[in-house]
Amino acid sequence: MSTENKSENIILDDEKALVLDHDYDGIQELDHPLPSWWIATFVGTVVFGVLYGMYYLWAGGLTLEEEYAQDMLKINKAKAELASKVDVFDQKAYSTWTTKVGLAKGAEVFEENCMTCHEENGKGDIGPNLTDEYWLLSDGTAESVYSIVNKGNEDNGMPAWGEVISKDEMYAATAYVMSIQGFEHKSGAKEPQGKKIPRK
Ligand code: HEC
Repeated sequence: MSTENKSENIILDDEKALVLDHDYDGIQELDHPLPSWWIATFVGTVVFGVLYGMYYLWAGGLTLEEEYAQDMLKINKAKAELASKVDVFDQKAYSTWTTKVGLAKGAEVFEENCMTCHEENGKGDIGPNLTDEYWLLSDGTAESVYSIVNKGNEDNGMPAWGEVISKDEMYAATAYVMSIQGFEHKSGAKEPQGKKIPRK
């Protein structure tokens, strides 16, 4: 009677050299080499790790604090550049906001950001009346209104909007303020404040 086990492992000829010499209940193991991609990745990470360590330990690689400080320098520079761009009133860019669409956007910006203090149609409340010929800070031109909106006068309660809304939104709000010059309020308009500057 044959004792041959039908389920005995079949080992291919070219794998015979790979069989390990242990056998657990008929389970045998082949010792295949690791795939080359795996070895390459492993060696790669070790080499990278050594170089990385050397770079940061001895070759003057920046610490996190130093990198942070450098990034902040860059950010502050970019911010300063942006701020100086925001400060420049460009008549041509502004004039694209004096259109119907631009003024509709301006009315929106005004309602969202300015109405709490300057009231509906700019008749004034906490902030001055923006529709009469009297100005505290402005000389009544779009350029000066823009500059006041941008920089504000925080000591007297006018916020600096350049830090809050975009340049386009400031143009739009300025165009809106210019469009309500001479608006006839039905009631409750704030009394004139500041210097009279006749409208051109
Ligand atoms: C928190 C209240 C407040 C808000 C919000 C506010 N303002 Fe003012 N605004 C003031 C005050 C107060 C003044 C007067 C400042 C002064 O006396 O120097 C002023 C002044 C001005 C002036 C100059 C008026 C003048 O007589 O020369 C303009 C223009 C102006 N605001 C536009 C705006 C616009 C546009 C917005 C919205 C983007 C806005 N303000 C939002 C309070 C506000």
